[in-house]
Amino acid sequence: MKRVAILISGGGSNMVTLVRSMTGDHPARPVLVLSNRPEARGLERASEMGVPTAVVDHRPFKGDRAAFEAALQAELVKAAPDIICLAGFMRILTGEFTSKWEGRMLNIHPSLLPKYRGLHTHQRALDAGDTEAGCTVHEVTADLDDGPILGQARVPVLSGDTPETLAARVLEQEHKLYPAVLERFARGDGTPVYLPSGDASPIKAELSEQTKNNA
Ligand code: GRF
Repeated sequence: MKRVAILISGGGSNMVTLVRSMTGDHPARPVLVLSNRPEARGLERASEMGVPTAVVDHRPFKGDRAAFEAALQAELVKAAPDIICLAGFMRILTGEFTSKWEGRMLNIHPSLLPKYRGLHTHQRALDAGDTEAGCTVHEVTADLDDGPILGQARVPVLSGDTPETLAARVLEQEHKLYPAVLERFARGDGTPVYLPSGDASPIKAELSEQTKNNA
């Protein structure tokens, strides 16, 4: 049974769906929910589901990233996870830290990577006039939002969309994508998950998009 630690900073809606998915013959179970913010609402949601929680508040470290990550590592070592899921975790991790968990740490990012690494992804997609958006689950490496892609979910951008309406549509897919990827990853199956299921691989979708536009 694989042990999963989930790192959050806020509401933890992705954490809730991940915890709820790890039941029955699922090959993993949650062993820790950790937040860098003591007031994160996800902490009480985790406790309500019976998952142990911890806090490593980043603020006392005043930008001393290495010291914060040492405290983070100490908490994680205690829980001894096989897999770490970043889920709405809003701290950038150094290569020093990510290298300790290479191949065992996942993140969900609210864009179709490699497009829109970093923040404000929905505003950027709208500004670019994109007709579709989505989210990506990837392995975490030293480079921000850049590791091997383990899954993507696509949603249409609708006329009149705001960053908020688009974020809500993407979040719905995050809650489907992340549990599906974690289940495969915990079984040692790295085959990427593409939603909507049966979706052509992104490159084919891209090509068909281009031929449509050139027609
Ligand atoms: C989500 O949009 C996710 O893509 C990003 O953090 C946001 C909040 O996630 N990483 P959650 O509700 O705290 O899981």
